[in-house]
Amino acid sequence: MMEVKESQKTISFANEISQGIPEELPSPKKPDENLSHAPKRKDILGKEDKKLALKNALRYFPTHFHEVLAPEFAEELNAYGRIYMYRFMPEHDLFARHIDEYPHRSKQAAGIMMMIQNNLDPAVAQHPQELITYGGNGAVFQNWAQYRLVMKYLSEMTDEQTLVMYSGHPLGLFPSHKDAPRVVVTNGMMIPNYSKQDDWERFNALGVTQYGQMTAGSYMYIGPQGIVHGTTITVLNAGRMIDNGAGSMASKLFVTAGLGGMSGAQPKAGNIAGCVSITAEINPKAAYKRLEQGWCDEVISDLEELVDKATKSVKTEEPRAYAYLGNVVDLWEYLADKNIKVDLGSDQTSLHNPWSGGYYPAGLSLEESNEMMASEPDRFKEKVQESLRRHVEAINKLAGQGMYFFDYGNAFLLESSRAGAEILEEDGSFKYPSYVQDIMGPMCFDYGFGPFRWVCSSNDPKDLRETDKIAAEVLEEIKKQSPIEIQQQMADNIHWIKQAEKNQMVVGSQARILYADAEGRMKIAAAFNEAIRMGRISAPVILGRDHHDVSGTDSPFRETANIYDGSQFTADMAVQNFVGDSFRGATWISLHNGGGVGWGEVSMEDSE
Ligand SMILES: NC(=O)c1ccc[n+]([C@@H]2O[C@H](COP(=O)([O-])OP(=O)(O)OC[C@H]3O[C@@H](n4cnc5c(N)ncnc54)[C@H](O)[C@@H]3O)[C@@H](O)[C@H]2O)c1
Repeated sequence: MMEVKESQKTISFANEISQGIPEELPSPKKPDENLSHAPKRKDILGKEDKKLALKNALRYFPTHFHEVLAPEFAEELNAYGRIYMYRFMPEHDLFARHIDEYPHRSKQAAGIMMMIQNNLDPAVAQHPQELITYGGNGAVFQNWAQYRLVMKYLSEMTDEQTLVMYSGHPLGLFPSHKDAPRVVVTNGMMIPNYSKQDDWERFNALGVTQYGQMTAGSYMYIGPQGIVHGTTITVLNAGRMIDNGAGSMASKLFVTAGLGGMSGAQPKAGNIAGCVSITAEINPKAAYKRLEQGWCDEVISDLEELVDKATKSVKTEEPRAYAYLGNVVDLWEYLADKNIKVDLGSDQTSLHNPWSGGYYPAGLSLEESNEMMASEPDRFKEKVQESLRRHVEAINKLAGQGMYFFDYGNAFLLESSRAGAEILEEDGSFKYPSYVQDIMGPMCFDYGFGPFRWVCSSNDPKDLRETDKIAAEVLEEIKKQSPIEIQQQMADNIHWIKQAEKNQMVVGSQARILYADAEGRMKIAAAFNEAIRMGRISAPVILGRDHHDVSGTDSPFRETANIYDGSQFTADMAVQNFVGDSFRGATWISLHNGGGVGWGEVSMEDSE
């Protein structure tokens, strides 16, 4: 066997970024036990396919590395169901730095590097070493070789080039022009008939596609804050809807599940909206991470104690965010058995990904589930479906007593119906609405309001504070002339932005989200430009819109649920958005199959 020298050298951040695949083999690395890791994926490849997966992985490396890397990657494929290339994890820490710290020839490319590093920051990402930002399988890249190559390309590209990304795989730099996007991303594009859940398992294991979720593979994740605003609006308006704004929010109990990447926003939003909430979470790492970050107030694993405390908070009208450490089905069954009054109910387990760790069935521990989903996938599927039937039965009982339950864009209704749960009306429609259809659509999207977001590339909290102030000033000015229909929206958004710093929502980059319409976005952006020119803001601000925006997403079980002309299963809108934004000045754009609701169930675009 040829002797391959392993590098022992330490290397500066800038040099490591510019280096791409190192000339000397880095020393082997093991996954860090202190971090959360992706569950072992289903063993779906046959012998020949495994050889192909290995060949695909080795194509990133010079042939003299292959003798060492081939058995190592084969071992990773067997142990984890994927080849992550742990050995190639960088020496540098991953987090959003000041834009000027990135070696670059294009400022825009440096901004994108910053956003990528934020998506992989261990304080931000769900399974950082498997390059998963959120949602269990929402990937930035498939492996660390892709990370290294992309950072290198971004560091050397000019404003007359465009980097083309195929599901984490950098196809290369192509000549373009300064007004063209710097990066064009597609994730999970499939021939339509090959877009079932197992197709993702197989083609992802082969190394030829990835699930980009919504803001993971588009590099636009801004931590759970990204969804706090939308969740606050949803919870607040759901509360107003059930009693026409008559009762106080603090006398309302909101019960839901999930303290993961996105779902972790729920208790925070509950507090901001001013209600009492209980959020169930089975994974202690996720629950305590949210407690440490101040996103929930208390973690309790004893149901009696939990429900006792929560009902007291409702009685005394003191908003508080309780986390239940355990299975949400046990929580719902307990509440139903004891006839506890629940006002608002929902669920944000990752049911878009039900068979590989998105939903933990009742009756099994976290560890037992993680083991069973890989070793006995068919039995695990039965357990999930049985659990969903119990889950729905308890919800139905409480809904019968007046609880308002809504689907929270995680395919809960869809997967429950597939599991044979009592979730359908006689005419085949779902018993419960999607939050978009009932709340966000009529109140926000119909008026052009959507998730406008920005990131301060200086990474300086002072700049973020300044942008908050500017945005509030601009909105207050616009509100004076706003039509009556959007006055409530404007007031909610002004309140949101004024409270934003106090609510301490920054995890990772110095970012902000604010629902705004076209007028608000244009005026805020122009005011930021002016402030940068005047030195009031110290460095460029990265502006973005996410998929959840007006016309960004074709998703028949969420954004476009029950569209009145019956077009919910068409996907022209998202594709047109992606193409249109590319020639209307976006710096990077992204088109995904399968954000949020699941592989094969949605097409969406992001643009920044
Ligand atoms: N409504 C929206 O705008 C919106 C936005 C983003 C994500 N989503 C969807 O919401 C879901 C959650 O997203 P995420 O990023 O938080 O995913 P995530 O995987 O990071 O978090 C889900 C959490 O649910 C927990 N969980 C799973 N089964 C459970 C059970 N039976 N009992 C208790 N806890 C359980 C998991 O341990 C995990 O921490 C996804 O399906 C996502 O697509 C909706």
